[in-house]
Order: sequence, then structure tokens, then C-alpha cells
Amino acid sequence: MKKIISLIGARPQFIKEAIVGNVVRQMNAWQHVVVNSGQHYDTNMAGIFFEELNMPEPEYTLGIGSGSHGAMTAKALEAMEKVLLKEKPHALLVYGDTNTTLAGALAAAKLHIPIVHVEAGIRMEPRTMPEEINRVLTDRIASVMCCCSALGQKNLINEGLTKNTHITGDVMYDLYCHIEKRFAPEKLCQQYGLKPENFVLTTIHRDYNVDTEENLHGVVEGLVAIQKELHLDIVWPIHPRARKMLHQYNLHSLTKSLQLVDPMGYVDLLSLAKACSFVITDSGGLQKEAYYAQKRSLVIMPDTGWRELTDMGWNILSAPHKQDMVPKAQTLQQDMPYIKHVYGDGQAAPYIVKTVLNFLT
Ligand code: UD1
Repeated sequence: MKKIISLIGARPQFIKEAIVGNVVRQMNAWQHVVVNSGQHYDTNMAGIFFEELNMPEPEYTLGIGSGSHGAMTAKALEAMEKVLLKEKPHALLVYGDTNTTLAGALAAAKLHIPIVHVEAGIRMEPRTMPEEINRVLTDRIASVMCCCSALGQKNLINEGLTKNTHITGDVMYDLYCHIEKRFAPEKLCQQYGLKPENFVLTTIHRDYNVDTEENLHGVVEGLVAIQKELHLDIVWPIHPRARKMLHQYNLHSLTKSLQLVDPMGYVDLLSLAKACSFVITDSGGLQKEAYYAQKRSLVIMPDTGWRELTDMGWNILSAPHKQDMVPKAQTLQQDMPYIKHVYGDGQAAPYIVKTVLNFLT
């Protein structure tokens, strides 16, 4: 039986592995060795997903923790090289665009171990964003590229990557379909004292928004203005990085009218996404998950990898200040016909597993 190492480490990767790992085991496709780099380590950033999504304990936990981009990538690269040398897998599976993704891919490429990249071909400006660097470089050295949509594949072809690119759909939609019955929007609204359809669900954590005082200040002002002018409550499960920066820039007092809560697990977050009026986020994952929950998103970024959703007008990009955020949030309150299946039919994981099996044989 072939052996594949699946490398995870940050919040969105736990979610993706939950569904892919499950399908691998169901199909008895290969020996699936899970390595957790430990890039995210707080219980509500990491452990909670293993519990609620019934994921087995990873075979390895590397404990790289936080640090500068270079330090994190270097620690993960060194630790992954050791694991790959010991395990000698037939391929390495990596997800998305984090420092963990790039470190794993680099370690594998140098050891001539084929790389399977799930969520390949996403491209967005600015090219200097850490995630963009991670995804471009990972695709460049991957042997199998699994794209969520035709646009991802087109981006790869434009860069001359024409071999072994596949449109598989999005594994996050698979997971959404699997777990949807466990969502409890009313219970969560009660828990946070919110009225269904009368609040905005917000997550902001990208360094683009939180690492510069001007942008973080602008986002907070924008949220407060939306709350006032649109008469909506705002609940913000706050990433530790954003909380730290709010304190560092002395912006915490401005957030008093907003409901800042600890980061939450998948089921709770998606339950709130189902119940909200709309979403404000800079998360790549949540802007797509909101769409699955049939909710529109104001995306506080200069660009998005999920252009299908902005092209059809479902999601809207906004600059990080109130002059742009408020009128666009008003537009989001309008109803719009829902177009299904932009990122596949909920069968991406089985498709990916079959694609990898074909590649291995
Ligand atoms: C990372 C990914 C990003 C993804 C996000 C999901 C990179 C470059 N970025 O961003 O693409 O959308 O994960 O959440 O890999 N921290 C804690 N506890 C934790 C984790 C982080 O306190 O469990 C704090 C630390 O201060 C850390 C900071 O958050 O320095 C940022 O964490 P990091 O892993 O560098 O990047 P994210 O912003 O989470």
C-alpha cells in the first residue's frame, strides 16, 4: 500500500484535512500519515477542530509555534525534512497557502517527493502578500494541482503549469454539506444575545489589515459606522493576532460597542454564518463558507482569490475605511438570486483521492 503524508498546521487546514482524511480512510486509498506543524496551537485555533470534526490525533506534531515568517518557515522546513526522511512517503499532500504549506512543499521537493497541492491556482494581488508567495511557489514545485474551479486551472496554465492540473471543486463545500445538519443558528444567537438576520458576523486577521495602524483603525471605524447606520449588531470572533494589534495600537476602546468574542470552532462559526444578515471578513475561507450558507460578504481586501463570487456581485471588495465600507454594506443587505455549485458539487474530496491514486499508479 502507498503512503502519503498530509501536512496541516493552521486553522483552515484542519478543516480541509477533516474531510479529505475521512474519505481516504473510507476508501482505504493509502496509508495516511498526518503531520501537524503546530503553526496554530491555542485550543480554539487548533484543538477544537480535532474534537468537533472527529479527527484522529496526528501521527506527528512539530510544535513550530509562532514567529517571523522566515523563522516559522525555516523551523517547519527543518522538522518536515526529518519526518520525510524517516517516513519515505510516496507523496506529500499540502493545503492552501500558509507558511506550513510552503515549508512542507520545499522539504519534499528537495527530497524528490511528489507534492499534491489542494486549493492550487488561487492568485491575488498584492503579489507581496505572504500567502500569495506561499501559493505561487508551492504550485511551481507541485506534481499534482487540485483546483477549486476553472479559474484556478486557468491561472496555472497562464504560468505554464499545464501538466496534472485538475478541477476538483472545493473540499470546504464537501465539509459544509457533511456538517450542515449539526449547525444550530438559533442556539448560537441565543448564546450571544443576537437576533437572527439582524447582525453582522465579522472576522479580520490578515496582516494587511491588522499590522498597520491606519488600516486597523479604518476597519474598526467602518464596523462601528455600519453598526450605527444600518442598526445591526456586530459579533467579531477575534483572532489572537488581531486582538494583540488592537491593544498595541490602543484601538481597543473604539471597539466597545462591538461584540468581541474568542475564536470559535467550525460548527459555531458556521451556525452564526447561517443566522447573520451578512459577513464582513478578510478570510479566504469564510468568504466562501458564507456563500455556502447563502450569505453575502464584504471582503476587506484589495483583491480576492475567489473572484467568481465578486464577479457575480455576490461578494464585494472594500477598502479598510468607513467611506467605502458603509455604502457597500448597504448594498449587501439587498437580496440577490443565489447561484449554486460555483465550487463543485460537494464531492471534491473523493475526486482528489481518485486523482492522487491515478497519479501514484
Ligand atoms: C495564517 C495563514 C493565513 C490563514 C490563517 C488562518 C500564513 C502566512 N498565514 O495566518 O493564510 O488565513 O493562518 O487563521 O501562514 N497566534 C496565537 N495563537 C495561535 C496562532 C496564532 O496567539 O494559535 C498569534 C501569534 O501572535 C502569531 C499570530 O497570531 O504570531 C499570527 O499567526 P500566524 O500563524 O503567523 O498567521 P495567521 O495570521 O494565523
